[in-house]
Amino acid sequence: MHALVTGASSGIGREIARLLAKRGYDLILVSRREERLRQLKEEIETSCGVAVEVKPCDLSRIGNVRKLFEECSGYDIEVLINNAGFGKIGFFEDIEEEHELEMIATNVAAPYLLTKLFLDKMKRGYIMNVSSLAAFQPNPKMAVYGASKAFINSFSKAVGYELKRQKKPIYICTLCPGPVDTEFNDVAKGHFNVKAMSHGRCARIAVEGMFRKKRMVIPGFLMKLVYFASKLAPDAMRLPISYCIQDKKTRQQ
Ligand SMILES: NC(=O)c1ccc[n+]([C@@H]2O[C@H](COP(=O)([O-])OP(=O)(O)OC[C@H]3O[C@@H](n4cnc5c(N)ncnc54)[C@H](OP(=O)(O)O)[C@@H]3O)[C@@H](O)[C@H]2O)c1
Repeated sequence: MHALVTGASSGIGREIARLLAKRGYDLILVSRREERLRQLKEEIETSCGVAVEVKPCDLSRIGNVRKLFEECSGYDIEVLINNAGFGKIGFFEDIEEEHELEMIATNVAAPYLLTKLFLDKMKRGYIMNVSSLAAFQPNPKMAVYGASKAFINSFSKAVGYELKRQKKPIYICTLCPGPVDTEFNDVAKGHFNVKAMSHGRCARIAVEGMFRKKRMVIPGFLMKLVYFASKLAPDAMRLPISYCIQDKKTRQQ
């Protein structure tokens, strides 16, 4: 019984890997930083007694995603966590095209393809696609990131519903966190202006929700309120609020 976790070298993905190991899953850990994955392997194998495979992979290359799937064809994958992803704060015209294309490949194309390939192979199990609260409204100064997560929400809910109608015992859960204390901001070049949730708490709520077959998990009461407010507000309100939130992230603290 294997679980594959992408983006396991840091933050939410690393915590999810630890939690799945505690539940007895053998793991396949994926990200680019091999050394980090090897450290986590050693820690988990010692503390949980499960087997851990390390697969260093740059998921922004579609050929690598296919190769990863082929390398995993011998495993009985019951849990797939599509967590790897990153954002970048700034005006659309200021962010380099290559950077945004890499973001779209990592945040959209890789989870799309891994879901497609593994679904065909899985007989039962769980898929978690990590999205964001940013998925629920357009995000000026984080336009491509927000759009990439909106794709994940729409796609995951639709495919999850198809599986339900086909009575297949595979459940797709979309995780939509608000601010979480990880390396996300170092990569995105910003900082949060509100208190971020710990990655441990976020991962715990996510894993519990997934195994309870929840279609969507929004960790934290306040973030659930933000979600409902965002659903009700017109774009004329959401756009300036969203702009101010992202803009503040790049101002001096
Ligand atoms: N933190 C937040 O506030 C927040 C809020 C909402 C949603 N999220 C989402 O949560 C997910 C996890 O992010 P995090 O907050 O835990 O940030 P993080 O600490 O920066 O972790 C991101 C992970 O993704 C991996 N990754 C990035 N690009 C990759 C690539 N091209 N190929 C393979 N792996 C790649 C990184 O590993 P390597 O660098 O080793 O490759 C790392 O393990 C992301 O999808 C993010 O969008 C985060």
